[in-house]
Parts: sequence; C-alpha cells; structure tokens
Amino acid sequence: MKTYRIAAIPGDGIGAEVISAGTEVLKAVAKRLDQFELRIDEFDWGGEYYKIHGRMMPEDGREQIRNHDAILFGSAGYPDIPDHITLWGLRLAICQPFDQYANVRPTRVLPGITSPLRNVNDGELDWVIVRENSEGEYAGVGGRVHQGSPLEVATDVAMFTRSGVERIMRFAFKLAQSRPRRLLTVVTKSNAQRHAMVMWDEIANEIAQEFPDVTWDKMLVDAMTTRMVMKPASIDTVVATNLHADILSDLAAAFSGSLGIAPTANLNPERKFPSMFEPIHGSAFDIMGKGIANPIGTFWSGVLLLEHLGEQQAAGRLMDAIERVTADPRYHTPDLGGSARTDEVTAAVIEEIRGANV
Ligand code: IPM
Ligand code: MG
Repeated sequence: MKTYRIAAIPGDGIGAEVISAGTEVLKAVAKRLDQFELRIDEFDWGGEYYKIHGRMMPEDGREQIRNHDAILFGSAGYPDIPDHITLWGLRLAICQPFDQYANVRPTRVLPGITSPLRNVNDGELDWVIVRENSEGEYAGVGGRVHQGSPLEVATDVAMFTRSGVERIMRFAFKLAQSRPRRLLTVVTKSNAQRHAMVMWDEIANEIAQEFPDVTWDKMLVDAMTTRMVMKPASIDTVVATNLHADILSDLAAAFSGSLGIAPTANLNPERKFPSMFEPIHGSAFDIMGKGIANPIGTFWSGVLLLEHLGEQQAAGRLMDAIERVTADPRYHTPDLGGSARTDEVTAAVIEEIRGANV
C-alpha cells in the first residue's frame, strides 16, 4: 500500500490544537478508505523553538522535510517576537525556497453557516482566489537607512518577473478552465502602479490566448472589493498579486462566515518540492489553550492536501464529512456563534468519516 509522508508543523498559538485535530482526521480518512497510509512526522518549530535556539527552525530544517510528500502547517506568530521574524523565519522560509508559488484559497459558504453578506443564497459564493506566492510585494527587497533620524528612508520594493507572472497566470487560467463556470478575474492596480501591474495586464492578455474556452475579465483591486460585496455571484476564479490577494482572501474568508473555516494550499505545481497546506487564520493567541479553536480550516486544508496527493476519493469523503458537521449548529465553535469545542467538532467529523459508505 502506498505510504505518504506528511510533515506536520503546528507552529504557534492555536496551531498545536488545530494540527493535532487535523492529523487525527486525516488518519481517520486513510483508515476508512484503506487505500493508502499516512506517516505523519511532527516538527516543533516556531516561537518556542526560537526562544531556545534563536531561530524559528533549524538550519537544516528544510532538508528535514524536503522529501516529505506534503506539509501540514498550523500558524506562525508569537506575542513577543516581531511578526516579520516569525513570518520570514518559518512560513516564508519554507514557501519561498520550496517555490510554492501558487497559493490557492477556496471560499464557499458551507452548509449550516450563514454568510454575513446579505442575499448570498446557497451556492452563490463559490470562489477560488489564486495568490502569487513567491514575489511581488513579499519579495523582501528594500531597506532602511538613517534609522530613527528624521532623514530615515525605508523602501519595500515589489518585484515582478515575467516568468513569475506568466506561471501564476497560466496556473490560474488552468484552474479556471477546470471549474464548471470557466470564469477568471485578473486583479491588478494598473492605473496607479503603472509598471509591474501593466505588465500583469499584458501577460494576462497573452496567456488568455492559450485558453480560448475561459471567459476572463480585469478588475482593479479596489473595485474588486466592491464587486465581492455587491455581486458575489459574478465571481468564480480570481488571480492577484501576493499582497492584493492576501487582502482579498481575508475579505472572502469573512464572507464564508469565519476566518476559522478558510483553507490554503501553497503549491509547487511542478512537484519539485513538497507543497504546504494550512488554515488561513493564524495563531490567535487570545483563544490559545482554551480548546475552542475552529478546526474546520485545517480539515479543509487537509482536503486540499489529499487532492494534491491525487487521493480524490479520500478528499471527497473528508469534504462530505466536514459539510455534514457544519450543517449541524451544535458543532459550531464560538467564532461561528456556537459553543462547540475543538475536540467535539473533531469527533463529529471522524464519526462521519467512519460512518460514510465508501
Ligand atoms: C496569510 C497571512 C500571512 C500573509 C501573514 C501571517 C504574514 O495573512 O497567510 O494570508 O500575509 O501571508
Ligand atoms: Mg492574510
């Protein structure tokens, strides 16, 4: 039987709680289907590790997970460690060298959950946001001089390469093509950012020629926020830069009812490196250790992980189980207005997996 090696990195805050729930659920799916095995290795990297070792992960950390089939990641962020250290020291230290350039963020309003957006009927909000994940505003290029003095200068330079934009654009068109509506919206800000964003628009035009069956349009990012609120059903697949999509995807996650639900895949589509799957929500220190973190974002990320491994049947089973559980308000955690605990939601999902007719 095929065995997949999964690297689990709980990270900080509620990461430990949701990742332990997530690995339990993944193991339950594997067991129920009995078609593959999962070997899950856990790594204790993050803020605690930093306090002891002065770095977020060991120097050879990437080597340790390089040959795993996938990575399940909790969150990075620690109250008294600056955010840019936790981010660059762990999450981006994995994403960027592993060339996980396609960040995929699906949004749907799951059964039983009410969107804060009025007039969103069943199935009317079914989006996938594709975020460029390797360059742009997160390139890390820039610097500061004359720190603290009135002459201080600070720059963050957004870097866009033709090859980087072409590959994410092609990825997004392909994804749009695989979805029933074959609809793509290319988001930029090419009125104000008149160099790189104009290049994005040009490249979108070029790549669109390869996908005559995909209907596509362009939006400026500010107008896109309005469209998301006013005409959500007109949107299907979206592609945007690293920062623009970061912002749009938080808005999208809020529309799905809670940030606690939203999943992410950081993909290296060529499979030269392992891809990484994580809930979008972050470390949420305010609720850490209370046992009330919503594990659905991690479970849904597990669905994306299984899909990436090619285990479509397992992915489908897990998504069905998730949807049957969200449909029941008794299993809503406080972020959804309920009073369920992480372990109750986890047990309910596992119960559904066990009971499923394979
Ligand atoms: C996300 C998060 C991160 C990002 C933070 C934690 C740095 O907001 O995954 O969307 O901006 O990439
Ligand atoms: Mg974000």
